[in-house]
Amino acid sequence: MSGMIPRQFIDDLLSRIDVVDVINARVPLKKKGREYSACCPFHSEKTPSFTVSQVKQFYHCFGCGVHGTAITFLMEYEHLDFVEAIEVLAQSLGLEVPREKGSTPVKHQKKNNSLYDLMQEVSAYYQQQLRSNPVAREYLDQRGLSDDIIARFNIGYVPDGWDHVLKNFSARYSPQQLLDAGLLIEKDQGGQYDRFRDRIMFPIQDKRGRVIGFGGRVLGDGTPKYLNSPETDIFHKGSELYGFYEARQHTRKLERLLVVEGYMDVIALAQFDISYAVATLGTATTQEHVTQLFRAVPEIIFCFDGDRAGRDAAWRALQNALSVLRDGKEIRFLFLPTGEDPDSQVRKTGKAAFEAALSEESVSMTDYLLNHLAQQFNVSSREGKARFLEQAGKLLSSMPDSIIKDQLIADMARLTSIEIALLKQRNIGSQPAELQQSFSRLSDREVRQTPVRFAITLLLHKPDLVAEVENPEQIALFDLPGSGFLATLIETIEENPTINAAALLDRWRNTEYEASLVSLMKWQPESQNDEMLTKEFQDCMRQIRKKAHERKLEKLLHKERVEGLDSIEKRDLIALLTELKP
Ligand code: UTP
Ligand code: MN
Repeated sequence: MSGMIPRQFIDDLLSRIDVVDVINARVPLKKKGREYSACCPFHSEKTPSFTVSQVKQFYHCFGCGVHGTAITFLMEYEHLDFVEAIEVLAQSLGLEVPREKGSTPVKHQKKNNSLYDLMQEVSAYYQQQLRSNPVAREYLDQRGLSDDIIARFNIGYVPDGWDHVLKNFSARYSPQQLLDAGLLIEKDQGGQYDRFRDRIMFPIQDKRGRVIGFGGRVLGDGTPKYLNSPETDIFHKGSELYGFYEARQHTRKLERLLVVEGYMDVIALAQFDISYAVATLGTATTQEHVTQLFRAVPEIIFCFDGDRAGRDAAWRALQNALSVLRDGKEIRFLFLPTGEDPDSQVRKTGKAAFEAALSEESVSMTDYLLNHLAQQFNVSSREGKARFLEQAGKLLSSMPDSIIKDQLIADMARLTSIEIALLKQRNIGSQPAELQQSFSRLSDREVRQTPVRFAITLLLHKPDLVAEVENPEQIALFDLPGSGFLATLIETIEENPTINAAALLDRWRNTEYEASLVSLMKWQPESQNDEMLTKEFQDCMRQIRKKAHERKLEKLLHKERVEGLDSIEKRDLIALLTELKP
């Protein structure tokens, strides 16, 4: 079930579906010249700046910068993950999504499958143990948990002892599997014992509801208060959120999500009918967490204690969230009175007052950011302003361009009484060069001028131009910025002759090349007609070869002067010199 989807299938799918149809079915498009357009579904606007190109199978919003393929559109618009988006597209063509059964993936898959089975069985065992243990039930009762909520969160209990799991599961699972699942600990002198003993057990589920780990709480004041499963093949704390599955199960259309610190916070809130809280698992909120949350809802509220630790956690969350914040998404912070956590607070005030505080007392991320910094530096002195701007600039530099960011820069200008133009001139808050839209790996400063960039653009636009490339294997040997990438691109197209731009882009999704490829996608070659394009491409490849030769020649001449050449290099040099003659 969870084998890899074959690359070929994704390529074929992307070449058979039309991004215009996919989007038009959800956001009606108007034809405008060669492209289609609409008001952007990802930010609010009155004049359409969202454009869809049928040729490139690619969409792009000039207002907020979103862009991508049919797959990313579905991911963003319908809050799907990658595999779900593929499934929706395949279904629209009446296709079944195949799964890879290569040698290694199958082995891996099998192992993981039984890990999931094992975790599920252990969770059931813990729940059954809770039912027959009055002391544990008394503990949960005294913490105010109803039977309903205990059942909804599948809460369990593991009795005291060194080998409950070991004994109960060793008939069906090997000690190695129990170790791999994080349920046992290996003794120094050999042998294993149960990791969790005499604890209330909270199963952690992934997005599909599979149990992937546990948090275990002591019943009294022992330490550690909470013991969590270690990282395993199926459990990665940086990308999992406790309660996410339960929240999505409970409410079909979630509007916002609350991020809290603890298991008990999620559960207590749910008991008070605030069933949209999730918790990080004893770690800081990561970018990955925020990305996942924003895929599900447009609004996230971090709800932390008002104490030092809570404030630190909030600031870290802010730092990690900045780079994934976009127009149309909102992050807020609610700080509770010192000494309270969401669990104690909601029990004290009840649902209505708690939700009122969420709306009325929470601060926007931008206010929090500016206030936090303004408190640190004295913005009425010149030095304070400079330090404030330096810090704020650093934070803002991780943000993609957006209206929110423009507003923040305007606020920074106002707070320091320094003109926006001056801040801009000093590049305050602008993204570092390598993140900007320039093709970093390929860049000369004059990006438009390099033939390598142009060749890549033309190939993205019309992959079958690859037929025009003579001796493609030479290109990898060129020593020009970006020529290595060009060689890979050519090779990829040669191996997949029917591939289109969207599928090509998808290959480099989430890599350092993505941003650059996207910016090249946005270019429109001047000429539309095939003959002209071919000619431009041939010209461009000629220039690339010439440049590469010159480059090599320069290097050889330099080497000759500095340390002399061996016989092969001499031959190369002579060949180059004769080749370059007109
Ligand atoms: P807290 O100490 O705030 O616990 O830790 P809590 O959620 O209020 O729990 P109760 O109300 O005392 O039962 C918050 C979160 O930090 C992680 C856990 O995920 C916990 O839910 N934590 C805390 C650990 O991982 N280990 C610990 O020893 C303590
Ligand atoms: Mn608590």
